[in-house]
Amino acid sequence: MVIQIKTLEQFRSMRKAGIVVAEALELMKSAIAIGVTTLELDAIAADHLKSRGAIPSFLGYHGYPNVICASINHEIVHGIPNERPIHAGDIVSIDFGAIVEGWHGDSAFSVGVDKVNPADQKLMDTCEASMWRGIAAGSVGAHLTDISFAIESYINSQGNYGILREYGGHGIGSEMHMDPHILNYGQAGFGPILTAGIALAIEPMITRGSAKTKILSDDWTVISADKSMGAHFEHSYALLPDGKPFVLTALDGGRAKLAALGIEISDLLS
Ligand code: MF3
Ligand code: CO
Repeated sequence: MVIQIKTLEQFRSMRKAGIVVAEALELMKSAIAIGVTTLELDAIAADHLKSRGAIPSFLGYHGYPNVICASINHEIVHGIPNERPIHAGDIVSIDFGAIVEGWHGDSAFSVGVDKVNPADQKLMDTCEASMWRGIAAGSVGAHLTDISFAIESYINSQGNYGILREYGGHGIGSEMHMDPHILNYGQAGFGPILTAGIALAIEPMITRGSAKTKILSDDWTVISADKSMGAHFEHSYALLPDGKPFVLTALDGGRAKLAALGIEISDLLS
């Protein structure tokens, strides 16, 4: 396993990609409402890419047909946008990646529509908070699986959730998916020691039931085997040359969320 080490200049390009992704996800989040289709959200992302001169990273990836992944309710990840109107009470999960100057950004969120079941809201909140704890645990000098352990232990502290085992986070840089693979569960203290120059995409995927999944006949959509509701959050973050983290796909670099966990972000990309 070789982990790609990036220079500050390369991280500047990754930040440009991250901002494009963050902006597009914000545009999509604002557009999500009863009656809107995920194909309309896909078009919003495609338009934003065009306006920023960026390239979609999902379109054509192993034959993937769209610019975003859109997964609703018991669909957890890799759902293909379609004409189904969004309903009240849906959990809508949007995953999106872009390339700028040859460098990637990858990020995802889940959001509830209109009146959300409180247990579904807690599922999403738990998933998002576990992602931030994973990023906070993935500092310079930590072992890779300290991230995995932080994610799993937080999720388990919040209730009985299924943590997907077949999918996880990944290195990111000149390609979307690079070494290392990052499990969302496991013991701390294993794997490579994290150094400055690394960028990782952290993406917990959880359900209110079983961790077991199935893939639909479209060959993409990952659903929970027991049809329980799912959630997915993702950010791409970097360990910058000053040894501090910076969340490339968060508009504020992750400053607020990481400060709440006692972590100071780098100023090198500000
Ligand atoms: N963004 C997803 C991930 O984080 C990958 C999307 S699969 C694709 O791993 F085919 F749509 F690109
Ligand atoms: Co990813």
